[in-house]
Amino acid sequence: MSNIKKNFPIFQTHPELVYLDSTATSQKPSHVIDGVAEYLRSSYANIHRGSYEISEISEKLYQDSKQKVADNIWAESWREVIYTGNSTYALNILAQSIWRTGLLKKWDKVLVSIVEHHANIVPWLILKEDYGIELEYIAVNDNFELDYEDFRSKLDDTVKIVSLAHVSNTTGQIFDLENVNSLLNMRYGNDRPLFIVDGSQSVPHFKVDVEKIGCDAMFFTWHKIFADSWIWVLWGKEDVFKRLKPIFSGGGAIWYVRQWEFTSSSELPDKFEPGTPNLSWAVSLLKAFEYIESIWGYSELEQIENDLSAYALKKFEEFEPHLNSSPQGEDETAASLSSKEENLSEGISLMDKSEVKLIGGRDPNTRVWVFSFTVEGIHSFDISDYLADHHICIRAGQHCAEPFMESLGLKHSCRMSLHIYNTREDIDKFFEVLEMAINDLK
Ligand SMILES: Cc1ncc(COP(=O)(O)O)c(C=O)c1O
Repeated sequence: MSNIKKNFPIFQTHPELVYLDSTATSQKPSHVIDGVAEYLRSSYANIHRGSYEISEISEKLYQDSKQKVADNIWAESWREVIYTGNSTYALNILAQSIWRTGLLKKWDKVLVSIVEHHANIVPWLILKEDYGIELEYIAVNDNFELDYEDFRSKLDDTVKIVSLAHVSNTTGQIFDLENVNSLLNMRYGNDRPLFIVDGSQSVPHFKVDVEKIGCDAMFFTWHKIFADSWIWVLWGKEDVFKRLKPIFSGGGAIWYVRQWEFTSSSELPDKFEPGTPNLSWAVSLLKAFEYIESIWGYSELEQIENDLSAYALKKFEEFEPHLNSSPQGEDETAASLSSKEENLSEGISLMDKSEVKLIGGRDPNTRVWVFSFTVEGIHSFDISDYLADHHICIRAGQHCAEPFMESLGLKHSCRMSLHIYNTREDIDKFFEVLEMAINDLK
């Protein structure tokens, strides 16, 4: 077992486990598990209104966790860091608050890319359905990068929001958001649309600098990078977020309440955090940072990622399964036939090796370690079930990116993804069992 793997107790509980689903969520190191347990044992209390010691300790840990986030994304202040339930909630809150403030009106347009996760599509579709805003999609090119020609052509005066993933959870492609920012500045000057970034798949992989990107708001998670689930961050520039009228309010987010009226707090982050926040999740985030620092920070993380990512990519490129000489062929049963689909795309260049098609670019420098793929003639669920029977965890389906999958003519794909606890042996095992699956399921 690698030294890093040893830090993650799940691999001691299940020594045979090959966990390749970290894009969905990451496993947790002992430092996080023990740190949260210790907090709950020794200093758990509600924050803000307690003048007793454990409440003050709790409050400090809560703020420290925000300071860590702020430092890591180069935010101006921890006050710009808002905790919400998950990223889907984060964007729903932001989209509805933008509407409530009047920054978006009927017929105004929101631009997103075709690869977006549903979290960055459905909140806008709600505004379209309820209030008549417009939503338009920017295409990606054959390398799965943002199609800047298409983007430029869609930048008209009705565009009020540009909301883009930094990294696609399906292709792993990194979008060049600094370029997006320059194009917005060139086209609109000071009167530019709000620029929102879904950092859910970039923050877990590399250091993200919101100042350099030039965005106005970003939402992302920390459960994909060792913290507990339900800890997502909504970051926004102070001047933008101070203007917004939050969609939710209540205790802690108001200045006064009378029987028939109330006044919202104008303070950040309070105005966006009504009610008791999730304290132990915040501590888990703090502990996750401590863990990353203990393994020499993001640079070490990136180095491991680059190495494993290049290895997996090469394996995908070279993978030519050795097929048994007597495949089932004509003996196929009706049941196995029904699970096969003619579903591979025509118009887009997938990395093609007769059996396995990788949905994503080949350049390891512009992508992260998320690998979506299809196996010709075999249903993705059959592949993932087969791998699961061999203790290999991947994911199959549409990866909450149905419009993108539809644009490729696909109904489903498999997705394997890595993290720092994975090893080359895990990747080898995956390909070994994938070959067996292809032979047994064909
Ligand atoms: C790019 C991206 N955006 C948004 C989300 C939504 O996260 P959640 O389901 O936790 O709200 C995910 C989850 O995988 C994601 O990968």
